[in-house]
Amino acid sequence: MAQQHRAVLIPGDGIGPEVTNAVKRVLVAAEAPLVWEEHQAGLNALKQGKEVLPLSTLEAITHHKLALKGPCTTPVGEGFASINVQLRKKLHLYAAVRPVRSLPGVKTRFENVDLVIVRENTEGLYSGVENEVTPGVVMSMKVATEAACTRVAHWAFRYATRRKRRKVSVFHKANIMKLTDGMFIRCAQRIHEDEYPNIEYQPLIIDAGCMRLVQDPTQFDVLLMENLYGDVVSDLAAGLVGGLGVTPGANIGDDCAVFEAVHGSAPDIAGKGVANPLALIMTSVMMLNHLGDVRHDENCRKVAGSVRDAYNQALSDGKKTRDLGGELGTEAFADAVIERLKG
Ligand code: NAI
Repeated sequence: MAQQHRAVLIPGDGIGPEVTNAVKRVLVAAEAPLVWEEHQAGLNALKQGKEVLPLSTLEAITHHKLALKGPCTTPVGEGFASINVQLRKKLHLYAAVRPVRSLPGVKTRFENVDLVIVRENTEGLYSGVENEVTPGVVMSMKVATEAACTRVAHWAFRYATRRKRRKVSVFHKANIMKLTDGMFIRCAQRIHEDEYPNIEYQPLIIDAGCMRLVQDPTQFDVLLMENLYGDVVSDLAAGLVGGLGVTPGANIGDDCAVFEAVHGSAPDIAGKGVANPLALIMTSVMMLNHLGDVRHDENCRKVAGSVRDAYNQALSDGKKTRDLGGELGTEAFADAVIERLKG
């Protein structure tokens, strides 16, 4: 019998339960060797009388080293701190990896987009060090440590090498934030020179980098940046290939990995059965490939390949959700993928 992998499943808030349910059905049909242990986080946890990020959820991820997570809502301007940020910090998930690729049957301005954003996931302005200096004056501190800048740069160059990619472009604003962003690019440059001289290193001031990205995304390969820039550029890049319904992601640390799509809980469409589950299906494919890498389980890679072929075929056959100009709902798209799985 194939090796089974236990993993935590966090349905999350808003469209989270709808898309995680669709992914579960696809993975069962694909005979993915996964056994889920469901845990709560976010508003869902609060509704069940738990902490917003229960200790039991953190402990389960630490134990299984693997989670698939739906999006969690964060109140704007008040209320509790982001679960997503807490999770990434507490579990030391320092590299957010977000592949952005053109998909068959999804027509956008560009063809052949194939880039990967690597976002530093634990510091920068997300450190949450904010205070009121005096009424009417507030400040937010951007934190950069040499250790965190170095480890994420190392991760990005190693990833580029393993995936046979040729260039790492670093988006920064070191002309203005000379200390923090200055440290970020210095660390990246040092890792490039000392350990990965064969991978091209391209530092770009972020404003000019964004202009180039929307003019011609095919010139980019791996993009490395600090936390907030990575957050913004991820959504921008999603828009180049069809939007947030088609961009998967992973938060990776040395011990654990939490897989989640780039999109949020989409309260505007939650509960309507219209959310695109593809981003999370693609995310689950990343998770299976990760298991192939870290646990050397070839069966996981095989299942990942068959799910990918199935969703590509579904899109090529014009099976699409509303965000992509189609008519299918969440479950109908999952059915279309399931129908195209080859035994
Ligand atoms: P969002 O990503 O939830 O939605 C932005 C727009 O994209 C909306 O119009 C939404 O309908 C659409 N969209 C997103 N995912 C979609 C999908 N799978 N299928 C079809 N359309 C989709 O971003 P927003 O509105 O800024 O944030 C909503 C909430 O989600 C906030 O509380 C935010 O903090 C949270 N959030 C959570 C994340 C996470 O858990 N990793 C990531 C981003 C936001």
